Amino acid sequence: MPPSRWHVLPLVCRWKDAPGLIEITSATAADQPAIESLLDDAFGSARRNRAAYRLREGAVPLTGLSCVARDDTGIIGSLQCWDIALCSGSDVRTPLLLLGPVAVAAGQRGAGVASGMMRRALAAADAAGSPPILLIGDAAFYGRFGFAAGATSGWIMPGPVDRVRLLLRGDATGLPSVARLEGKDGLRRAA
Ligand SMILES: CC(C)(COP(=O)(O)OP(=O)(O)OC[C@H]1O[C@@H](n2cnc3c(N)ncnc32)[C@H](O)[C@@H]1OP(=O)(O)O)[C@@H](O)C(=O)NCCC(=O)NCCS
Repeated sequence: MPPSRWHVLPLVCRWKDAPGLIEITSATAADQPAIESLLDDAFGSARRNRAAYRLREGAVPLTGLSCVARDDTGIIGSLQCWDIALCSGSDVRTPLLLLGPVAVAAGQRGAGVASGMMRRALAAADAAGSPPILLIGDAAFYGRFGFAAGATSGWIMPGPVDRVRLLLRGDATGLPSVARLEGKDGLRRAA
């Protein structure tokens, strides 16, 4: 989906060739139940066992950067962003942004919805002077948005992760080559 087919407004994207209107807006707390349902459909309920969830335990998604896509049936896409930290040594914590999960309803894929949400979130992050952005996903898709695995090979996740899917976007100069990833306020102990 080339960018020119999207009308990008401050909070709303409209796909002019679709019969129905698709809007991309900031996610709100009221959207959360529909987002959780969409994520269960996209990733299965075992998604909560993934290492990425350890990074966001107890955190809330960042408003302004997190967004949803809606059509006349309701929420059909979600992208969430979180504050996390890269930790080296005992007390050196460098802020990073975690982008994800990104999900689009099965019947709506291939229409540019995820790309529209990505462009919106990255533009907002860049405008806000965001730290580098971490994402766990396929480089074949996210590479087009500037994500690559090169800088993350020595970073330790709080659980198993496929290293080629640990992607970073942004200037990695000055970031430690060996470090561990944690939530913004550290990792919670398992109950
Ligand atoms: C991945 C996902 C978010 C893409 O959403 P989407 O709205 O269909 O994406 P878009 O329409 O913006 O982009 C489609 C393009 O991405 C490509 N693409 C989608 N998923 C891809 C993947 N995993 N690897 C490589 N390319 C991919 C498509 O082939 C298409 O390519 P084209 O533009 O050259 O035709 C959606 O398929 C989804 O929700 N999947 C299940 C959840 C998931 O895996 N999320 C990603 C991990 S966080």
